[in-house]
Order: sequence, then structure tokens, then C-alpha cells
Amino acid sequence: MSLYRQVYEGYRKAIVDGSLRTGQRVPSTRVLALELGISRMPVLNAYAQLSAEGYFESRVGSGTVVSRSLPPRMSKAEPTPARSKNLNQERRRVSKRCLKLWNARGFFASRRSGPFNVQIGFDCFPLALWNGLVTRHARNAQAKSLDYGDPMGLEQLRERIAEYLRTVRGVRCDAQQIMIVSGSQQGLEIATRVLLDPGDQVWMEEPGYRFARSVFASAGCQIVPVRVDAEGLNVAAGAKKFGGARAVLVTPSHQYPLGVTMSASRRLQLLDWAESNGSWIVEDDYDSEYRYEGMPVTSLQGLDRNSRVVYIGTFSKVLFPSLRLGYVVVPEDLVERFLAARFALDMGPPTFHQAVLADFIGEGHFARHIRRMRAVYAERRNVLIENLRQHFGAAAEMTGTEAGMHLTAVLKGISDQELGARAARDSLWLVPLSSFYLGNAAQQGFILGFGSTSIHQIPAAVQRLWTLVRRRPSSASART
Ligand SMILES: Cc1ncc(COP(=O)(O)O)c(C=O)c1O
Repeated sequence: MSLYRQVYEGYRKAIVDGSLRTGQRVPSTRVLALELGISRMPVLNAYAQLSAEGYFESRVGSGTVVSRSLPPRMSKAEPTPARSKNLNQERRRVSKRCLKLWNARGFFASRRSGPFNVQIGFDCFPLALWNGLVTRHARNAQAKSLDYGDPMGLEQLRERIAEYLRTVRGVRCDAQQIMIVSGSQQGLEIATRVLLDPGDQVWMEEPGYRFARSVFASAGCQIVPVRVDAEGLNVAAGAKKFGGARAVLVTPSHQYPLGVTMSASRRLQLLDWAESNGSWIVEDDYDSEYRYEGMPVTSLQGLDRNSRVVYIGTFSKVLFPSLRLGYVVVPEDLVERFLAARFALDMGPPTFHQAVLADFIGEGHFARHIRRMRAVYAERRNVLIENLRQHFGAAAEMTGTEAGMHLTAVLKGISDQELGARAARDSLWLVPLSSFYLGNAAQQGFILGFGSTSIHQIPAAVQRLWTLVRRRPSSASART
């Protein structure tokens, strides 16, 4: 820091934390400069600044003092960390909704890389190509690029996404309905602000996507778990118990985490329920680009004739998660509402990477990347299935193998959380199935990602998993 800044900060801090009291005299600029062995100029400047901000006052003949008009409580305004620990928790109350949120620091602190991580193939991303596009855009930035962008997102990118969704995902939309968001999580947040009030019931798949719970909880909604079976969300069970729910969040193309594809009859039942009840369906289509068996499944939104579905997609899986770009396909009559909610939240998405992505798609790299990665993931998936079969045989029931970047292995007689914690110490990334249940876990097992695990790593990793499961303590001793 400059000398001037050091003198200024030194006084300001001493006044704010109470070491210097109101009315207390401070040395003259000449004396202080002499004492510090510095020139008088920085001291003069610092005193002038402190006076201008109201920390000092000077009277002719009586020198400079700490301003008498400062409130006596000033000394408590900036507690030191040690003091803040002792503060009365009752007086530092935060919202009840906030207390229900997911412990994000705990989650990130426990994240490690290793086999079975549910992530993309980072090693296969065409980084040089992407970097080239980023550089091109950075070089060509113009003054007008500095202004706020369209709160719905860059028009060119929205056009490209709409075209892609119409042709590949059977989504009925045009670019005016596409809102660019910073990942599906923000899309869900905006949809919740528009569609739900505190106290409203929301169906969530059981087991279901854990991070979505935080969004509904922070909006004060009541989450009601509705079980998932081999056909997807059990609509009849939901309607019987919580028929009046305002909304439902579903992953029909590849249920997270079980991986089942929602059957046509369940899709139609869900659309009928939503229409007759005046409820909303939020479709989270997070990884359906990669399907290895059968025809691609079209979106639920494409079947909807009553504009009940809000469709959310993301580039986190198909490209990479740090991009933080996703999109919402908004029913036409709700576009203005979504826009208002968006504006209140963050005024709109940052523009730079949207422009890069628009070119990435427009120049054909996106389609090429998906084609290439489908082959990479298919191979990783095949090797994983083969190795699981070899070691576990019928002891592991695999679900959700036809699409995405993970499968779920249901295992009987284990405590998945306990085994998962032990595996993490050994750099094996096993996400316990039971942690995706809001109520009692009906099944135990692991979500096994294969997207970021190379075919050379998989056999040894499955072997380690097998050893871990085989050597587990018996249920009785685990309980003890
Ligand atoms: C079910 C589900 N939805 C959405 C996402 C992606 O979220 P985001 O776009 O916020 O990165 C994931 C990522 O793991 C997911 O598992």
C-alpha cells in the first residue's frame, strides 16, 4: 500500500475498532511525519481524506481530533473474528428457509476426483478449438460489447438452441421462448419464482436430484416425494396422496439417479394430471444427448398440447460444467413473467461465453463433439457393464444403462453410505443411492459415473469395488 493509504487505513481501523475514541487528539501532520520518518505530503493527504469522510475534525487552535459526531457504538461496527464467534446467535438470526439449504461447502470439500465420478470426459474436450474461439472473441471485443445484454440471452445463441431442440429433442419452441441461464440450477430457481408460492406443494422424484431440493426449500415450498419405479414417476401414487400439488420436477428422458426412461403412458398421465389440476411440469433434460440403445426419446414438452411444461436444458453435461450455461424453454404466455423474474435476479446472463458458444454450435463443432463423445461414452459404459457383470453377476442390479454418463448399481445387504465413505478414502468415487431419497431409502447401491473414467481404469476400479463390497462388515457388526 502507498504511504498515504497506510496512514489512512491505520487511523480508520483504529477508530472503527474502538482503539481511538471520539474526541481523542491525534498528532499534528508535522509531528507524525517526523515520527514515521516520511515526508509530510502523504500524511497531509491521509488527514484530508479522513476529515472529508468524517473520521477527523479540526478546529483552529485546538488541532485535529477523532470526530465527536461519530456514534459511540462505532467500536462494535466491525467485530474482529474472535469477537464475532461470541456473538449472540439469537440476534444474528437468518431465515428459516436458509437453514434448510444444502451445505455447499461440505459438499465441495468432500469432492475428489477418481474412478466412478459422475462427470464428463474432461480429457476429451476439444480445448484447443474452444480456446481458439475464445481468443477470436476476446480480440474482436468492441465498445458495444460492454453494455448490458438481452436479459433473455444472446439472440444468435437462442436461435441455435431452438433449432437444435426442435430437430434433436422434439421440443416445440422458437427462439423467443428460450431464456439463457447460468446452468439448470438457475433455470429452476427462476421457474420457481414465477410458478410457486411459499407453502405450495411440489412433487419430486423419489429418489431424485438432491440439488433441486435446495431451490424449492429456499422458496418455502413443501417437497413431496413421489416414488419412481421401472416406468418412471408413479403419477397415480402422487395424485392419490398429493393431488393438489402446484408443480412437479421430472427427469423423464433419463431419471436421476435411477436412469429409467419414463414410459409413454406415464408421460400422458402426468400431462393429463397437470392440465386437470392447473399444475406445472418442470422437465429437467440434463443428459439425453447420449443414448446408447434404441431411438432417442423425445421430450415430454414435445408431447404437451397445453403449454404446461417448462423445459430446462444445460451445457454442463454435453460440454462442461464450469461454462455455467443452460436454457429454459418458457411457455409462450409466461415469457414476460420469466423475464421479470430474471431481471430481478441478475439482469441477464454474461454475454462473452454465449457468443463463443453460438459460434461453437454454428460452426458444427457442437454436433461433432456429441457424435465423438457418444462413441467414447458408449465404450466406457460397455466396459463398465461387462466388468460389473463379471464380478457381481446377479448381485448387482444395474439400472439406467441405456443413456447418460452414469448407471446405478443396486446392491442388497449393504450400507451404501458407510461403504461410500470408506471408498472415498481410497479415491474411489461412490455416490450412495440412499442419499437421493428424501424419506427412507427403499434401495441401497451406488451411482457409478463412467464419463470421466477411462476404459483402462475401469477394470481395476470395479475390482476394488468388488473387494470393498465383499469384505464389508456384516450388517450386525456395522450396526454395532
Ligand atoms: C439431474 C441433473 N440436472 C441438472 C444437472 C446440471 O446442473 P447445472 O446445469 O446447474 O450444472 C445435473 C448435473 O449433475 C443433474 O444431475
